[in-house]
Amino acid sequence: MLSTYQFPENFLWGGAIAANQTEGAHLEDGKGLTSVDLLPTGKKRWDVMLGKLDQLTPIEGEFYPSHEAIDFYHRYKEDVTLFAEMGFKSLRVSIAWSRIFPNGDDETPNEAGLAFYDALFGELLKHGIEPVVTIAHFDVPVHLIEKYGSWRSRQLVSFFETYAKTIFERYKDKVTYWMTFNEINMLLHLPYVGAGLVFEEGEDQEQVKYQAAHHQLIASALAVKAAWEINPKFKVGCMLAAGMTYPYTCNPDDIAEAMNVDRESFFFIDVQARGEYPGYAKRFFKEKDLSIVMEPGDEELLREYTVDYIGFSYYASRATSTDPKVLENQTSGNVFGSVSNPYLEKSEWGWTIDPKGFRITANQLYDRYQKPLFVVENGLGAIDEVTEIGEIHDDYRIDYLRQHIEQMGEAIEDGVDIIGYTSWGPIDIVSASTGEMKKRYGYIYVDKDNDGQGTLNRTRKKSFYWYKKVIESNGQDL
Ligand code: BG6
Repeated sequence: MLSTYQFPENFLWGGAIAANQTEGAHLEDGKGLTSVDLLPTGKKRWDVMLGKLDQLTPIEGEFYPSHEAIDFYHRYKEDVTLFAEMGFKSLRVSIAWSRIFPNGDDETPNEAGLAFYDALFGELLKHGIEPVVTIAHFDVPVHLIEKYGSWRSRQLVSFFETYAKTIFERYKDKVTYWMTFNEINMLLHLPYVGAGLVFEEGEDQEQVKYQAAHHQLIASALAVKAAWEINPKFKVGCMLAAGMTYPYTCNPDDIAEAMNVDRESFFFIDVQARGEYPGYAKRFFKEKDLSIVMEPGDEELLREYTVDYIGFSYYASRATSTDPKVLENQTSGNVFGSVSNPYLEKSEWGWTIDPKGFRITANQLYDRYQKPLFVVENGLGAIDEVTEIGEIHDDYRIDYLRQHIEQMGEAIEDGVDIIGYTSWGPIDIVSASTGEMKKRYGYIYVDKDNDGQGTLNRTRKKSFYWYKKVIESNGQDL
């Protein structure tokens, strides 16, 4: 199907992955244990993600999917070749903090870890693929959790700053696009995932979360400062888990509620992109009796070092209401929680499918921030069947992506400045929320099941050839 959408020249089409969901080799070549390495599968995973971790070492008998993941650490050359075959212009990856600083507070970095990303970025550039790098994607060295209580401690700011400076220096000639914290707003919903937080009995969790958020926001500003100093050509973005919240009705109470729910997320980006704590946040802290400890100079840092672009993920819109009866009807699977929207379909995991919401969300973000947007995640997690002759006919995934890319085209027509689109999991990887392999996003199938069984062989799906055409035609052939 030919579209009429005009995507900018040099639009960064590609895909996005994260170290802990892809690399495996979790203790190889000097890498330290990281927060996500302690996330098992099953119900226990959820408890840990919420900050109820009982021990800081893997438990015998539990299955930890990050330990091997899809073995990208050893197979990245093969995978990059496949991405290049699709014509990728960019690949978003994350660096595993604990590959560079195994404990987080080490005096010197681990050369083997640095060398791995050197080789990976070199391989990408060899194929004309621009690396887009997330500095922290749901990843805190376990030693920092054990010794300092993770991001609740101000000390994490300087460890992160050292880590960021180290990778900026090392890759200053290979990488231009950076992002500080993946889905920074996720900290409020999955505090262990977003910030390595493990709560103590009776602790005021809200207070801890917002203090940790302040530390991440300062760390992010310091990273922007260091980046600009090390290479003025660097572009540093924030990264928001986006998706507009719709009011369930036109009752002003519902409208105000939807505004408040969205502000829980905008809070982070308002600070990172506009440079100060918004008034509604100050009011919230006052009413909740939360006191955020700041150091002299923090406000100036936030004001001066705002991000260059807004990276965001979009999977679904959400809906909310003030009517308790309506609130009972929640969709499952979405970590944010949402009232079920009667106008929209859902994925097999209960995530609302709303292509038009993508256009609305992009417009909303651009209206609010007036900075370039980078769509760094979007996609459909679905179960794929392999036919007898080994083919995967994932038309449902093509439909989802086509409809979303069309709406991105609409947003661009609306005047929204979008610089790229990296769909999530271009190769099947471990699901962040469930730890499953069967929740697949890829154009490339990986032979591995939820229990870790399989050859890890890679196979091109139908969507592989479709996405190749999309990129080749710069979004004309959808
Ligand atoms: C985002 C994360 O929340 O959504 C990714 O940045 C994650 O790490 C993606 O994988 C999709 O979620 P899931 O749970 O389906 O893997």
